[in-house]
Amino acid sequence: MTTERSQTLGEFIIEKQEDFKYSSGELSRLINSLRLAAKVVSHQVNQAGLVDIVGAFGKQNVQGEQQQKLDVFANEVFIKTLINREIVCGIASEEEDDFISIHGRDGSNDNKYVVLMDPLDGSSNIDVNVSVGTIFSIYRRVTPVGTPVTKEDFLQKGDNQVAAGYIVYGSSTMLVYTTGNGVHGFTLNPAIGTFFLSHPNMKINEDGHIYSINEGNYVHFPQGVKDYLKYCQAEEGDRPYTSRYIGSLVSDIHRNILKGGIYIYPTSTKAPKGKLRLLYECNPIAFIIEQAGGRASDGYNRIMEVEPTELHQRVPFFCGSKNMVEKAEEFMKK
Ligand code: AHG
Ligand code: MN
Ligand code: MN
Repeated sequence: MTTERSQTLGEFIIEKQEDFKYSSGELSRLINSLRLAAKVVSHQVNQAGLVDIVGAFGKQNVQGEQQQKLDVFANEVFIKTLINREIVCGIASEEEDDFISIHGRDGSNDNKYVVLMDPLDGSSNIDVNVSVGTIFSIYRRVTPVGTPVTKEDFLQKGDNQVAAGYIVYGSSTMLVYTTGNGVHGFTLNPAIGTFFLSHPNMKINEDGHIYSINEGNYVHFPQGVKDYLKYCQAEEGDRPYTSRYIGSLVSDIHRNILKGGIYIYPTSTKAPKGKLRLLYECNPIAFIIEQAGGRASDGYNRIMEVEPTELHQRVPFFCGSKNMVEKAEEFMKK
């Protein structure tokens, strides 16, 4: 019998805290609270079908999307956890019209970090028992500590992120995150409610055989994307590639990191700016993908260099294995 076991996420966070110069432990506490909220949401996701949590909530968010009950639940859990623990000064969420400024009980706030999140990604999949996720992005505020946060603190380019991650509520629940020192994945043991390090130092292959795109929109795609898809389907070299599209970004990205592949959500005549949101979907995923050795762009330039102008800004997204994304970009340039 062996007593060896993997490191827990809690242990890992404490160990890595020392990697940051002058770290006060604030970022560690922040990631710890996301870990707690993830467990609560994971538990609820696994109850879908047993408790009244599937289906529409009956309202639309600011982007005109139908909110699902679980969107609202996950949003509340993450926000309440972050507020209760008094560890951030501001939160922006897909499900909130505007950013939230957070003050301590005495009205002050000396915290340095803001969190941007997609509390439940792929929520239309929940009703049909398909994986969903959460995405988060963390920045240091740019306005002075102690003052109320402003839009400026949230409208930062992805390169300024100090940490980012996602949680995938799949056949198991996994939390994957980076603080700029590689990407690490932890799997939840639901029996004891603990995340264990299962995927240290995750890397995405430079090449892959999977392309993930909603091909139902094909006729609306830009010519460059159409041509790239024909290239993927051509009988030549290691092609044709295979197509896999779950329809929840987190799950599609997670699979492509593990297996190699490209994910594309381009502009289209239906969605001229793309569909995915720069600040809480594309930037955090881009940070993870780059840390894993991949590439993320808008079809032309690195996603993390895009200067944001709006909280819920949309952007076209090309992301995954480096050589595949570069190939798609070649077609876009033509
Ligand atoms: P969300 O559930 O947070 O609104 O995100 C849905 C997103 C993303 O997860 C997914 O990749 C994409 O929408 C799917 O869009 P289509 O149904 O247009 O393919
Ligand atoms: Mn989403
Ligand atoms: Mn969402």
